[in-house]
Amino acid sequence: MKKRVGILISGRGSNMVSLIAAAQAHDYPAEIACVLSNRPEAEGLKKAEANGVPTRAIDHKAFSGREAFEAELDTALKSFNVDLVACAGFMRLMTSEFVERWRDKMVNIHPSLLPAFKGLDTHARALAAGVKLTGCTVHIVRPQLDDGPIIAQAAVPVLEADTPNTLAARVLQAEHELYPHALALFASGTVRIDGKRVLGASAPAKPPGPLVWPPST
Ligand code: GRF
Repeated sequence: MKKRVGILISGRGSNMVSLIAAAQAHDYPAEIACVLSNRPEAEGLKKAEANGVPTRAIDHKAFSGREAFEAELDTALKSFNVDLVACAGFMRLMTSEFVERWRDKMVNIHPSLLPAFKGLDTHARALAAGVKLTGCTVHIVRPQLDDGPIIAQAAVPVLEADTPNTLAARVLQAEHELYPHALALFASGTVRIDGKRVLGASAPAKPPGPLVWPPST
């Protein structure tokens, strides 16, 4: 049985589109049950509708507090019979009560190689730190921000001419590849959570060599 996934967004929704596209494959282990946004004007809502996915805007500003907003979010997720939640550019901090309600059932994508560069402005901070490789991470959500067992990561080189925008664009491409892959691992039950680690993903007996950057010529 395919897992029913609810996607949470706040904006553009390009990761959401990559998940919707992947879930169209008949052998993908998840189907996208709904897309919910805390911002009614989120561009991603239109893209989801264009793809025939049910949407709902739940404007956080219309609620007295975080708990009331999350109660509505939870009701909506349940009304779509959601098994798993995938955060994709969802820009609201969540209470630990909400996170615990979806414990081991909620994943997020973050545009850095966690645990480096948690929080906002990751690309500017990666450039300022002078790292040669950055990337993106899909992890299981825990109450602490950008924390939680890591399902999969993708590494991307940092170029000398990069600005935060050019780096973000390169990482975003990797995100679009990583998220559908990581969600499939998670939804298929291939992997299991063992404390801080996610185990059980199959890997080739001989993994590829390291990505060395800058490369040796
Ligand atoms: C992505 O970079 C994601 O990693 C971060 O917010 C951005 C959302 O982009 N959490 P999009 O809405 O998926 O296009």
